[in-house]
Amino acid sequence: MGIFDSGVGGLTVLRQVARQLPLESIVYFGDTARVPYGTRSTAEILQFVREIINWMLQQQAKMVIMACNTSSALVLKTVQGEFPIPIVGTILPGSLAAAKLGRRIGVIATPATVASNAYKQAIKAIDPTLQVWQVACPEFVPLIEQNRVLDPYTAQVAQQYLAPLLAEHIDTLVYGCTHYPHLEPILRLLLPPSVKLLDPAIHVVATATQQLDLLGLTNTAIPPLPTRFCVSGCPQNFAQSAQLLLGCKPIVEKISLT
Ligand code: DGL
Repeated sequence: MGIFDSGVGGLTVLRQVARQLPLESIVYFGDTARVPYGTRSTAEILQFVREIINWMLQQQAKMVIMACNTSSALVLKTVQGEFPIPIVGTILPGSLAAAKLGRRIGVIATPATVASNAYKQAIKAIDPTLQVWQVACPEFVPLIEQNRVLDPYTAQVAQQYLAPLLAEHIDTLVYGCTHYPHLEPILRLLLPPSVKLLDPAIHVVATATQQLDLLGLTNTAIPPLPTRFCVSGCPQNFAQSAQLLLGCKPIVEKISLT
């Protein structure tokens, strides 16, 4: 199956795939030549996502996990109708989990995801009595891609982004961008212990697992191939940033989508 993101964000989803679907062979693609997605237009993201899914089909993917909230918020529904394989996004599984967990819910996400209101609308559709506040965090993705999670500047920026949510006394904080769980060590320090952190990844992969099962696509027989890591940008940079999360430096291929 295929998993993609603009960069290392989708690795937080890949980590869950390794736990929940250990028998599946995975092709991971990070569109690092064009990261960040979160400040781009819907038309640009739609073009990128179509290119990526076409490439995934050429790699014989039987399902694609869109491990990118920005793409899920903006173009999931459009591409789901265009391709012959199931495509799983992040917003609905994340919103269902958020609605179960909290009543005063903060969502941190990219500017494009926040502008789409996808999380707010989905959570409110599940339970209109829930309160949702969203904050766009444009600096987070570039800092994570530059491997600057532990840089004091990143903590300073995080403090500013969290301030309006803390002022509303949120009880739950949703990572509305798959890059953000990489920031957990610093976010945890800035949040009161009572605030629950929700990573939609677990729920996204549970949804993918269910769909594979329903469609009879789960692999039970063939031993999985080693995970392939592919990027459109610099393989060394990706390997470096991925190392923190994966615990080892992956072999990374540079590919061209066209
Ligand atoms: N990790 C992606 C997301 O979940 C994309 C972030 C970006 O490239 O701006 O939104």
